[in-house]
Amino acid sequence: MQSTRNKLIHLLATSKDKYTSGQMLSEKLHISRSAIWKHMKELEKDGYTIEGKSNQGYRMISFPQKLSENTVQWGLNTTWLGKSVIHKATTSSTQFVAHQAAQTGAAHGTIVLADEQTSGRGRMSRQWHSASQKGIWLSLILRPTILPYLAPQLTLLAATVLADVIQSFTKSRPQIKWPNDILINGNKTAGILTEMQAEQDQIQYVVMGIGLNVNQTNDDFPKELEKIATSLKKESNRTWDIVALIQEILTTFENTYDAYIQKGFPYIKDKWEKYGFKIGEQIRIKTLQDEWQATFSGIAEDGALLSKTTDGETKKLYSAEIDWFNEGGNNYVK
Ligand code: BTN
Repeated sequence: MQSTRNKLIHLLATSKDKYTSGQMLSEKLHISRSAIWKHMKELEKDGYTIEGKSNQGYRMISFPQKLSENTVQWGLNTTWLGKSVIHKATTSSTQFVAHQAAQTGAAHGTIVLADEQTSGRGRMSRQWHSASQKGIWLSLILRPTILPYLAPQLTLLAATVLADVIQSFTKSRPQIKWPNDILINGNKTAGILTEMQAEQDQIQYVVMGIGLNVNQTNDDFPKELEKIATSLKKESNRTWDIVALIQEILTTFENTYDAYIQKGFPYIKDKWEKYGFKIGEQIRIKTLQDEWQATFSGIAEDGALLSKTTDGETKKLYSAEIDWFNEGGNNYVK
């Protein structure tokens, strides 16, 4: 259920070029005109700029840059992604909130956002450093109709989405380090954590966690990350609008996801490989049993890493320790 405040914001936001009369708002929201006026004052305190003109009504001039359900949805042109937004000022992990929401029936496309995570989670049970209002800490709830074994394709898809958005905003050339770390100039700026609840032949839901470092400076990273993690700000010397970036991620994700469902994985694979870090180059691969040098030749349909050994044999790897040489860092906290 939307609160009266949210409905009011929505009404003003959808007619942003015109004045809406106090009378009209009062009829639509079933509250008095003086109650409308009180809500306007509260919204102004929250950073909204609202113009009130006698005989004409109210008009929303600008939204605060602060993250909220409303600021994310205002001007968001998606069909199914982000139609329901759960925003927390602070939470342990948006993954945790998203799992709870998914288990209680949250719809496909629901998103969870936080200004700050106190126990942000990375891959392989690592902790993900998520400073308040400095980055995008986002989890998407998806209910894809694909078979569970294809779910890794969604992670690869998300990596291309982040790379596309970073490239279009910053004009830098991001790279994706297998399986799904986003690097700028060789340092990690974003990561993806995909978790799934599934039966043998059916996915119940996927929670896709996206962490993107946006406005951190060196001082915002713990000492041990300073040299190895990066942010859009560190790479471009400017501060970025987090809400605008989230909207772009959601729009690009929705378009890419819809295209994937229609056209299948080859479209994503091509895109991924264009951004692929060290494709065609030498890497060193280590498994429990063995260690060898190979050429990284791309990714397989199931997300596996494809490598070509010196004697021409193609090997498919699902997990291994890879020495990428000059490997980029993470937001991992020890
Ligand atoms: C990785 O590279 O290890 C993945 C990092 C994923 C971090 C994001 S931030 C939003 C979501 N909530 C979490 O606790 N983790 C993911």
